[in-house]
Amino acid sequence: MTHPMNIPGSLLRFWQGGRDLELVFERANLRISALGNHCVRLRLGPGGKFAPRRSWDVAAPDEDFTTPVLALREDSQSIRLEMGDMQVVYQRGGGLRFEVAGQRFCVMNELPAWQEEGPVTACLITDPSERFYGFGERTGLLEKTGSRMTCWATDPGHMHGPDVDRMYIAIPFALALRPGLAWGVFFHNTFLSEFDLTQAGQMALRADGGELDLYVMCGSSPTEIVAGFSALVGRTPMPPLWSLGYHQSRWSYASQQEVRDLVAEFKRRQIPLDAVHLDIDYMDGYRDFTWNRQNFSDPAGLMRDLKAQGVRVVPIIDAGVKVDPDYPVYTSGQKLQAFVSTPQGEEVHAYVWPDESVWPDFSRADVRAWWGEQQKRLVADGVAGIWNDMNEPAVFIQPFSQGGGGEVTTLPLDAQQGGPGERTTHAELHNLYGLGMARACYEGLERDLNGERPFALCRSGYAGIQRWTASWMGDNHSSWEHLEMALPQMLNMGLSGVPFVGVDIGGFSGNASPELFARWIEAGALFPFCRGHSCIGTIRQEPWAFGQQVEEISRKWLRLRYRLLPYLYSLFWNASQRGEPVMRPLLYHYSQDPQTAYLYDQFLLGEFVMAAPVVRPGVRARSVYLPEGDWYAWDSGEVLQGGRHILADAPLESIPVYVRGGAILPLGPEMLHTDEKPFDPLTLELYPGDGAFTFYEDDGHSLDYRQGARSVRNLRLERSTGLLRLTIGARQGNWQPLARKLVLRLHGVPEYSRLGHTGGLYEIRKHLLTLEVDDDGAERELNFRL
Ligand code: GLC
Repeated sequence: MTHPMNIPGSLLRFWQGGRDLELVFERANLRISALGNHCVRLRLGPGGKFAPRRSWDVAAPDEDFTTPVLALREDSQSIRLEMGDMQVVYQRGGGLRFEVAGQRFCVMNELPAWQEEGPVTACLITDPSERFYGFGERTGLLEKTGSRMTCWATDPGHMHGPDVDRMYIAIPFALALRPGLAWGVFFHNTFLSEFDLTQAGQMALRADGGELDLYVMCGSSPTEIVAGFSALVGRTPMPPLWSLGYHQSRWSYASQQEVRDLVAEFKRRQIPLDAVHLDIDYMDGYRDFTWNRQNFSDPAGLMRDLKAQGVRVVPIIDAGVKVDPDYPVYTSGQKLQAFVSTPQGEEVHAYVWPDESVWPDFSRADVRAWWGEQQKRLVADGVAGIWNDMNEPAVFIQPFSQGGGGEVTTLPLDAQQGGPGERTTHAELHNLYGLGMARACYEGLERDLNGERPFALCRSGYAGIQRWTASWMGDNHSSWEHLEMALPQMLNMGLSGVPFVGVDIGGFSGNASPELFARWIEAGALFPFCRGHSCIGTIRQEPWAFGQQVEEISRKWLRLRYRLLPYLYSLFWNASQRGEPVMRPLLYHYSQDPQTAYLYDQFLLGEFVMAAPVVRPGVRARSVYLPEGDWYAWDSGEVLQGGRHILADAPLESIPVYVRGGAILPLGPEMLHTDEKPFDPLTLELYPGDGAFTFYEDDGHSLDYRQGARSVRNLRLERSTGLLRLTIGARQGNWQPLARKLVLRLHGVPEYSRLGHTGGLYEIRKHLLTLEVDDDGAERELNFRL
């Protein structure tokens, strides 16, 4: 029998104190808390009771936000809470209205409803012209109107098409856009939840349990909403520089000799490489934190030698721990009662790679600390980072040793998790499983890496996953469709607060064709996280596996990535400070331009670089949309007027890439791994127009940047009639690069220009002026007569 939904009933009274307005209804309280000027938290407490804050909560506590100046206005029709230009209005006898700068952006005609121990629901009426983005990891295209999306971390298998709803990472966050207005909703609920956008002009929310707890934020641009959401759930720490290099993976490089040979091949072919990933076969019988000593007799020696060549090792760790009385990870975990249990208090046993397994309860701080202790063995051997997998968690129906692995489920929903005073069901904590594992990993690495910066990679996740790890989009397929889908997938991740994202370059399952691999690595060289990976049983997919032409293409694009590292690294600083996505849809900067609303197959790397990947075979030219402004073609240097579509050449060896007028791009020298040399010379590529950039540097590997050992410089380019001014702000912070050459390259100058800089005249070659200047870290201004 289904129970009827409860509704709050009539308003009895209300009060306001601090940041809160509390409306007391017959059967529930509604608490509206102002968090700064553009965000409110809305909670429904049945019977006037609100759930206590949990230790695993991903949202910053309310106290972390400033209490804005509030005004409360009341009349016979409504009760109105005003904070700056945001307002929440309770319509007596009706629902709630949210407004920004006098414009209504969403309405809850009816107050939320709930069932005892059952679902909570709410419905937001929006504008039929509204467009929706975010929602974490998704299949399909960029814009999500018309879909119903579940937030439930799931291993969907590698053949997921656009109709697959549940993916590895569940982030119940929506970004809504209409001309001149942006708003967002974080559904703060870890149970299975759903966003239903199938009815035009409305967003229906539902969660299987828990409280109705929504954060509603508003502003005028997507930038503000993503910044607001990431302020709430956290931002990515600075990654080590090496982790922005190229990673090579395969299931599996199964012996130390194979790994040495692999690295030697990269060196011989002069293809950049910074990390090799070890998949499950390095372990002893799939036991986490062990080595298969037959094939890896001296892992420490291997890693020492590779490190000397500038290559790090990142081994995989799986969530399931083998049940084995002779395995200390299992026995020590048992002692701590670290594993997810049945309602009767027995360990939950199920199958994954090592057959019978148990799952650590990462929601508990003591379990996370214990996990870090286990991880120490690998750190002591010399690993530089950890790749965390199967943590939706994925559970096999059949033992792997007996052919299982195809059919995947998860832990029983009534399984028990949580420390004393917080016991609850897996149903409530399922979505947080991967995040807890990533956190345990990161905190352990932070403790044990001797001041080196941690790198973690993780498959599953929930809102805020970026605080602990980079994310890849799980098992994709070597198909054009999956290359195409990777773009909107990562773009929506960025809009959901997760900047450090990538997909398996070349595709995980199936076999890439040479052309597919070429197109994949051209785009992939510009992804925030850049790793080639492929499944056991598939053809080799290293950059040289497809013949000389594709090898050449891989070399060219990966080398370009390495030249872009100073730019990319600065983008990560912006991500860590403001939550900015590294890889962005065009609508992030051009939301007023209706052409960008659905544009999913072009992306911006930061504000200045735009790539238009090719995602179909045989295609040698493609339509590219250039937003308003000047755009410089990367290959030819040609200046193109924006505000239109163009047909761009895309020969097999090149996808179209453009730089926006006004760009200041810091580039480094060519290198084959990030330890090879410092960024010397450092080149600032200048493209006439107006623009600003925060250029960030530090030592690239330690945690000292947190204590101020960093260099932040504000760069600005301004164009006025006949003049271009570059301002290089003084170095802020106390990290100083080694003495080096600073080269300025000014693009787009007329071939025969008598261009001068503070008096002198310079020779122009191919529309390019090159100039070397001293860099003592002081502020300097350079004026160019154009
Ligand atoms: C999962 C991972 C994949 C890995 C495989 C074996 O399918 O997603 O990347 O190679 O397990 O560990």
